[in-house]
Amino acid sequence: MEVLKLFPLEVFSWNYEKHLMIPRSTEYQSNIDILDLEIYSDLKSYILECSEQIKKHYGFECDRFELTRSWLNTYSAEHNDGMQFHTHPMCAFAGVIFLSDSPQEPIIFKDPLSVRANQSTIPIGSTDLCYHSIPSVKNKILIFPWWTEHGVSSVNKNRISIAFNLMPAGNVNYTDRLSKLNLNYTK
Ligand SMILES: [Fe+2]
Repeated sequence: MEVLKLFPLEVFSWNYEKHLMIPRSTEYQSNIDILDLEIYSDLKSYILECSEQIKKHYGFECDRFELTRSWLNTYSAEHNDGMQFHTHPMCAFAGVIFLSDSPQEPIIFKDPLSVRANQSTIPIGSTDLCYHSIPSVKNKILIFPWWTEHGVSSVNKNRISIAFNLMPAGNVNYTDRLSKLNLNYTK
């Protein structure tokens, strides 16, 4: 039997090899753009290199991607924190890098095909193909389309990560007369 995997969800992954500082924080989600801090300047550059690879992979028409938002997530075992399924509006690609080694507290992706993700749609057996978990391994980076529903179950071990949003910037859609535009972001 040949399996044709049509229209898969593409999630991109890298392993960041430099040492990462873990800030002390008890905040569930930080308010600041954490990747703008000097201690993360190398990481920020690396993530932008990753976004350049995605741009080439799809042949996107934009000068570059920019990090429009980034924040620290600190999910505490004491409070059984987690994060319900959500998407990242106002960005093209969302991403995360795991600062703590918490493989048992994975990020969970939901099948984007809603009819298939609904368990009541003709269930045949108990095979659950609706969710895919990726262990939260320290220094792993994941980048995925903004509309990808993802979440985290309640955690048994503290789980620290940086999440971020990427948007196309500069000249965008430059060969399309009707949709070309120039995008720049200020903070
Ligand atoms: Fe998220």
